Amino acid sequence: MKLSVFKKAAAALPEDFFDAPPACGLILGSGWGNALTADRVLAEVDYADIPGLGASTVVGHAGKVSLYIRHGIRVVAFHGRRHWYEGGGWEPVVMPAELLRRMGVKNLLVTNAAGGINGKFRPGTLMAITDHINTTGLNPLVGPVVPGWGERFPDQSEVYDTGLTGVLAQAAKSLRIPLKRGIYAFTSGPVFETPAEIRAYAAMGADAVGMSTVPECTLASACGIRVAGLSCITNMAAGIGNRHLGHEEVLEQSKKTTPVMAKLVDAFLQQLALDFQLA
Ligand code: HPA
Repeated sequence: MKLSVFKKAAAALPEDFFDAPPACGLILGSGWGNALTADRVLAEVDYADIPGLGASTVVGHAGKVSLYIRHGIRVVAFHGRRHWYEGGGWEPVVMPAELLRRMGVKNLLVTNAAGGINGKFRPGTLMAITDHINTTGLNPLVGPVVPGWGERFPDQSEVYDTGLTGVLAQAAKSLRIPLKRGIYAFTSGPVFETPAEIRAYAAMGADAVGMSTVPECTLASACGIRVAGLSCITNMAAGIGNRHLGHEEVLEQSKKTTPVMAKLVDAFLQQLALDFQLA
């Protein structure tokens, strides 16, 4: 990991991002466009202008970071993310989490699109991630101990914070949006899984599968950031449905679910703002 990259990236952001710790960070998956509601946008930067992050090579990942006020709290949203399978190493993958850490963020909500392994999770299902299985054998924390990234052997028994996941559940309840809970299996991609792999992940206890999220959540949790994860099931995983698997199908379903997810994220921020007032 080239740590100098993070310093350069932070220096490329306007100072507004570092004026005060954001109450919440968001790292959003495919197809969010301008779905988020802001009361006031304070600053916005394209990924292409952030050294070490760069424009995403994946269709549907917008690639900008915005600092805005919503429900009276400061929020920093990363629209789109970089993936391990893009071949650019770990730096761009964990960059949003690292920049949020440098801003002093304490709460992080991460969203993604995922294939449904649990037969009850049809396309359009929203799932709060309760835990993950890293199937890849890869880990962004491999390397020298980095100051600020926690200890050599970080505890991962609660990567997805029960309290923050509760805030998400409360938000879903307030909107009467059904929210399932489940375990997310992380694969390296870029291939979709084989049916045999999906059967293996099902036997391991996975409910959904995807090619993102786990690296940044691993880092964020090691750094002591409270994390919640939200998956949108876009398709049945390989061998479960009979449909062809392709990125277009994933994007199409994401697009359909984004307005509901955006409402949920907004209610989550509202709930978090309430918690801040009470604190
Ligand atoms: N597999 C892996 N990643 C995914 C899938 C899938 O079926 N759907 C959306 N992202």
